Amino acid sequence: MKRVFGVFGDPIGHSLSPAMHNAAFSALGMDCVYHAFRVRPEKLEKAILGAEAMGFGGLNLTVPLKETALKLDCIKPDPLAEKIGAINTVVFGKTGEITGYNTDGLGAKQALLDAAVEIRGSKIVVAGAGGAARAITFQLAVDGADITIINRTEERAIELAKDISGAALPGKIRGTGLSGLKGLLKEADVLINTTTLGMHPNIETTIATAEELHPDLTVFDIVYNPLETKLLREAKAAGAKTVSGVLMLIYQGAEAFRLWTEIEPPVELMKKTVFEALQA
Ligand code: ATR
Repeated sequence: MKRVFGVFGDPIGHSLSPAMHNAAFSALGMDCVYHAFRVRPEKLEKAILGAEAMGFGGLNLTVPLKETALKLDCIKPDPLAEKIGAINTVVFGKTGEITGYNTDGLGAKQALLDAAVEIRGSKIVVAGAGGAARAITFQLAVDGADITIINRTEERAIELAKDISGAALPGKIRGTGLSGLKGLLKEADVLINTTTLGMHPNIETTIATAEELHPDLTVFDIVYNPLETKLLREAKAAGAKTVSGVLMLIYQGAEAFRLWTEIEPPVELMKKTVFEALQA
């Protein structure tokens, strides 16, 4: 009988995860299928327990469920997910235990490693202080980066930096308001945009323009709708290296696949599938 995997979220209609995982399952000859399910936060516990009862192979959780999942009694978060405060991957154990992981930060880290970024000691500016910034900053601090979180609402940046620093990780973290961005970018090695600037329908907005960027910078925009954001175009104009946010989606998915199956997924095929779906 086919093993069912899924992603829960709301809205969920445009998720790229089914195409990505189904391509991987079929390339590996695995008798598995991955579906998207619309689940509201108040029904999340029932949905997860139902999936477990029906023998699902594993789940992804997306907006707006990642933080809610951490509060549920039925899931035991792994220490990193607990620190991040959000779960995006659910693993069903053989004896009924349900474990929650967060692979978003690892996805971002792998996207940067692909671009040959040396994370330890590198000066990284993270724009935004929401859930995505939290997962990414946590992972990069574990790996020893020197991070400044910069956010429109300065207090949120300061609070997030304080919270992550409190976990005594090797990387240095501070938080500040947007006015410092220009000065910080001059000294930075990497800029990561986690704000919604540039995301459809606000495609002409950007956290920084070419004049504020420089050729030694790597610019990573986690927004992938559109595939090439205004920030990435500005980065190219400045001669900076660019990293597409879609790689974070693919690598977080690949990591989830490993957690569920203990099998190495066909990452290149997953990339091809996602890029084709986005260009269609
Ligand atoms: P997520 O959890 O998905 O990362 P979020 O919590 O909604 O997202 O956060 C979105 C981020 O985009 C926030 O950092 C937000 O800044 P504020 O904390 O000041 O709200 C940032 N953001 C959204 N619109 C913005 C804009 N027009 N200019 C600058 N930053 C913006």
